[in-house]
Amino acid sequence: MELFEAIKGRRSCRNFSSEPITEDIIMEIIEAGTWAPSPLNGQPWEFIVIEDNATKEMIYQEAERCRKWGEEASGWKWLGKYRVDFLKSAPVLIAVVGDPAKTGLDAYLDEGGVGYQYACAAAIQNMHLAAHGLGLSSLWFTLYDKKKMREILDIPPEKNPVSIVCIGKPAGEIPAPPRKEVKEKVRFVR
Ligand SMILES: Cc1cc2nc3c(=O)[nH]c(=O)nc-3n(C[C@H](O)[C@H](O)[C@H](O)COP(=O)(O)O)c2cc1C
Repeated sequence: MELFEAIKGRRSCRNFSSEPITEDIIMEIIEAGTWAPSPLNGQPWEFIVIEDNATKEMIYQEAERCRKWGEEASGWKWLGKYRVDFLKSAPVLIAVVGDPAKTGLDAYLDEGGVGYQYACAAAIQNMHLAAHGLGLSSLWFTLYDKKKMREILDIPPEKNPVSIVCIGKPAGEIPAPPRKEVKEKVRFVR
């Protein structure tokens, strides 16, 4: 697949078929994640692969709790219709766990300490593109309380469960959410 075609064609999927994914494919997607850039090449990530239904159910319950809380806190009506069942139907969930101790020199800067999260985000995007290149779909999922996710996945308190990447075959076509005109987002300093 041509690179720009892959970048533009990747979509967030919220409706997966239950078709399983082999361990080889899972590892290929994770390996793509590990080729992301990171501060001082510290590779501040770990990956927890979740295939077990009982754990998926706990993650689903936590996301539902946050969804309901979020609807109240924000007043956003769409959250009432937003379903997170894909957390149970996606064959694989991969938690990307970041290590704040590996954030690089930005640890010493004002507003620093985020380099490790950028690196994890880059890894996640690589994973999305790899999944897309392999004919799969994925979702970047963050609607959970981090303390609760540490409990569910047995993650130590000093590590950050940055995101859960849901992966599977899409159950249908996914329309592309529109993008703003590039020109609206760009300023040249010449
Ligand atoms: C940091 C981040 C967090 C996100 N969290 C969620 C989430 O919790 N649930 C969800 O359904 N989508 C989530 N998304 C996916 C976005 O909604 C999605 O990327 C956006 O609507 C554009 O759609 P596209 O990815 O198909 O281009 C997240 C994306 C990012 C980058």
